[in-house]
Amino acid sequence: MPSLISSPRSPLNGTVKVPGDKSISHRSIMLSALAVGKSEVTGLLEGEDVLATAEAMRAMGARVERIGEGHWVVHGVGIGGLQTPDNVIDMGNSGTSTRLIMGLIASHDITVTMTGDASLRGRPMGRVIDPLTTMGATFSARDGKFLPLTVTGSQNPLPIDYTTPMASAQVKSAVLLAGLNTPGVTTVREKVATRDHTERMLKSMGAEIETAEEDGLYVVRLTGQPELKPVNFEVPGDISSSAFLLVAASIIPGSDITVENVGMNPLRTGIVHALKAMGADIEILNERTLGGEPVADLRVRAAKLKAVSELPVDPSTMIDEFPVLFCAAAVAEGTSRFKGLEELRVKESDRLAVMAAGLKANGVELTEFEDGIEIRGAGGKVKGGGIVATHLDHRIAMSFSVLGQMAESAITIDDAAPIQTSFPVFIDLLTGLGAGLKLAR
Ligand code: S3P
Repeated sequence: MPSLISSPRSPLNGTVKVPGDKSISHRSIMLSALAVGKSEVTGLLEGEDVLATAEAMRAMGARVERIGEGHWVVHGVGIGGLQTPDNVIDMGNSGTSTRLIMGLIASHDITVTMTGDASLRGRPMGRVIDPLTTMGATFSARDGKFLPLTVTGSQNPLPIDYTTPMASAQVKSAVLLAGLNTPGVTTVREKVATRDHTERMLKSMGAEIETAEEDGLYVVRLTGQPELKPVNFEVPGDISSSAFLLVAASIIPGSDITVENVGMNPLRTGIVHALKAMGADIEILNERTLGGEPVADLRVRAAKLKAVSELPVDPSTMIDEFPVLFCAAAVAEGTSRFKGLEELRVKESDRLAVMAAGLKANGVELTEFEDGIEIRGAGGKVKGGGIVATHLDHRIAMSFSVLGQMAESAITIDDAAPIQTSFPVFIDLLTGLGAGLKLAR
């Protein structure tokens, strides 16, 4: 378990690209595996989570091959063509792989047993088990809702009309993916629209899928059993990975960086708006479209950040970026208050509790609530000197790597290994820009 020591070195300067978007990378492999014929993916994130998806789709019969850096070829089996794997599939740390693949299995006549690491085995699966059971799948899960679990797909799946009880693109996508091999129209309704990569990608592959706003809800209707045509997916850079750079360059005085090719799907850009509301200097340059998604280059210069309490965006548009936003709040001037964040308690770790513990260990004053946190900003460097327990959560490790750059004494992150799940080049990339990060055993 390598620990990571983060301390100030120099302002960040330079131009970089971050690896491919994790959500889009997962979906590009899964959907290509269901197309008829050969698809290509470029810019694929080669982090452990996406590799778990690739391995699972292979185990169910698709040919998934790496032909170059971020360049993959997938020979799909067609909708209905997935096979029962000959072993348990291990989803590692990846909730997205697990929940979306549960959806795929639910309408195939196959049986699959899934497990994962200690973090994933603690995450709630009831949110997908419930709607997929209504569609006809059967589950046997530890305590009814945790991995390891075995899912047997239905031979005669039923389309459902489902309103998601929480803002979750994983739940929406699991139901839609089950709908792919279900005759009739599967409908998902969301109170707040979450990331819509599944919808965009299915449309590009020729599926009959419609989105609308009805009675204040975002509604998706998918007609089942289309023939998905293979396409070439170009994966944009991950805005969730970029977020660590946006915050780092904003808080380290004298910084000036450009992050190129960042995915700017409007349901993902909350972090840019939140940081701007705190006074960040972020310029959005060269806006264009890549593979059906908006992308841009982001130039970030250091700025004096001030506290924020009313976020100008819905939390779902930046749900994975709160840990690093809390670090921005810790160095900002004034008290920030974030509420309505109960979903953070069921991520790779309980991100409210784990962030609160890590921030406190480094001298940050705060109050934790059931659904949020209040952070009293230092208006400059935090004390630091503490050890952060990451609890197998990549975003905790990366958030405190950023905060250490604005700490009077170095911050120690107990385990750097989880960074491999989503941003394998994080340490090299940040160090290359000027950050002070050192691995230790
Ligand atoms: C994701 C959806 C989000 C997000 C996760 C990726 C996706 O999860 O936190 O990292 O790719 O659909 P929820 O659906 O649980 O909010």
